[in-house]
Amino acid sequence: MKVVTSIADVRHQVKAWHLAGETIGLVPTMGYLHEGHQSLMASAKKDNQRVIVTIFVNPMQFGPKEDLASYPRDLERDKIACEQMGVDLIFAPTAEEMYTPCFNSYVDVNGLTDALCGEKRPGHFKGVCTVVSKLFNITCPDRAYFGQKDAQQLAVIKQMVRDLNFDIEIIGCPIVRETDGLAKSSRNSYLSDNERKAAVCLYQSIELANTMIAKGERSVATIHSAMQLLIEQQSLAKIDYIEFVDLCSLKPVSQLTQDTLCALAVYVGKTRLIDNFIYHFH
Ligand code: PAF
Repeated sequence: MKVVTSIADVRHQVKAWHLAGETIGLVPTMGYLHEGHQSLMASAKKDNQRVIVTIFVNPMQFGPKEDLASYPRDLERDKIACEQMGVDLIFAPTAEEMYTPCFNSYVDVNGLTDALCGEKRPGHFKGVCTVVSKLFNITCPDRAYFGQKDAQQLAVIKQMVRDLNFDIEIIGCPIVRETDGLAKSSRNSYLSDNERKAAVCLYQSIELANTMIAKGERSVATIHSAMQLLIEQQSLAKIDYIEFVDLCSLKPVSQLTQDTLCALAVYVGKTRLIDNFIYHFH
């Protein structure tokens, strides 16, 4: 496995693989890798001859009051995680390599970014789309893999790829959870023991919603209240949002009469956690 930090080195390797007729799967990450990332790598490995993992904590997608400085980083541990999964190349650039001092071009997907995290984190998806476009152009993959945990990010990237004609297949992979149901996330490492116990309330609220739906409940207001009540019982938890939106448009829905994404963001202590589930209308 190669670990490179320069764009030129990635291009050199990618050119050789393409010349040899090999396909490339890309797993873009911000590092501090966990089993969720490794499941993306496993899918990439299964579908492609070569796998590239990018590790870059992208300053552009963090708001001024967010956790850019404290975001967990451990490249040595990440190398082991990638090696275990048979990754061929890690691209771990510096911010200077990615953004030259005169950098001034952006990719901004409209509409889908108005709601959910787009509304709560202004500029976040512009940062994500800009860096992902750059990573696509640097690594020229056939397929790129993203987790369903970041459901809005996945929808936004699919729209960007359609709109801008990137010749790349975007593959969404299922949420990977801890044994108690907490979705795996690099940010889980911020949680104290008590916060970690409290954090299971996101998944419990999803379970509750799914039980209500299984019993026939279709009113979003009723399901939303029950989820809210459950989370509010946790003194360490503070709801940022719980939203039910149409799976394609990400516009709010009031009844479960279409494919629906239920997405939630909850602060546990100072840590903002997200989770979601999809209701498929038959
Ligand atoms: O999901 C992430 O880790 C990041 O948003 C991504 C896609 C690597 C872009 O920085």
